[in-house]
Amino acid sequence: MAARKPLVMGNWKLNGSKAFTKELIAGLKAELAGVSGCDAAIAPPVMYLAEAEAALAGSAIALGAQNVDVNVQGAFTGDISTAMLKDSGAKYIIIGHSERRTYHKESDEFIAKKFGALKEAGLVPVLCIGESEAENEAGKTEEVCARQIDAVINALGVDAFNGAVIAYEPIWAIGTGKSATPAQAQAVHAFIRGHIAAKSQAVADQVIIQYGGSVNDANAAELFTQPDIDGALVGGASLKAAAFAVIVKAAAVAKA
Ligand code: PGA
Repeated sequence: MAARKPLVMGNWKLNGSKAFTKELIAGLKAELAGVSGCDAAIAPPVMYLAEAEAALAGSAIALGAQNVDVNVQGAFTGDISTAMLKDSGAKYIIIGHSERRTYHKESDEFIAKKFGALKEAGLVPVLCIGESEAENEAGKTEEVCARQIDAVINALGVDAFNGAVIAYEPIWAIGTGKSATPAQAQAVHAFIRGHIAAKSQAVADQVIIQYGGSVNDANAAELFTQPDIDGALVGGASLKAAAFAVIVKAAAVAKA
């Protein structure tokens, strides 16, 4: 199996300010200097991409964003395009986060369009998938994850996952302090990779599958011992430089 370099990405969500952005990035640069073996990225609010890009100068930490529109330009009030994100130095773009699926009614098909727009622009989609608590209790976890992945495969083909990232985030674990156990997460990650492998083993072998949902500096190392967990998408704990750095370093050590 091909070696996959882990990716730990911070999803700042609706948090921060210019000053916070500069301060957090200064802390991350200090904490992560000289760390290799795990790619690190941050997704601040788009308002602060310029501050973040400037503050990240000279660092290996990559820049990302939390959403993108499917349209490239024109009369689309309030939207942000792939070209704008690229112009602002962003590389990894989160799409399909459960908060956008829930609060903005984004469908699997709409998210697949975003995936295609990002690939066309040469950006890296970070596709969030995952089941709700009710779906989990009803034994529908695999069905939901397969449906969310298949929306992309049906629209773009399995090769679209070359160079892409999937973040498995069980909704019941997001922001609740109740992470999936390493074994629970591994079982779903293995299912997701197997589902892609049924179409292309080569694509499945290289795709990064992050776990997300209450990852913190205390539980990250154990999650990363699992073979199909290739890093993490981190919300709350990404707002503190020290905690985020512990998670990045844990991935680098576990996957060395
Ligand atoms: P959390 O969020 O780490 O705060 O649970 C993760 C996410 O929503 O990406």
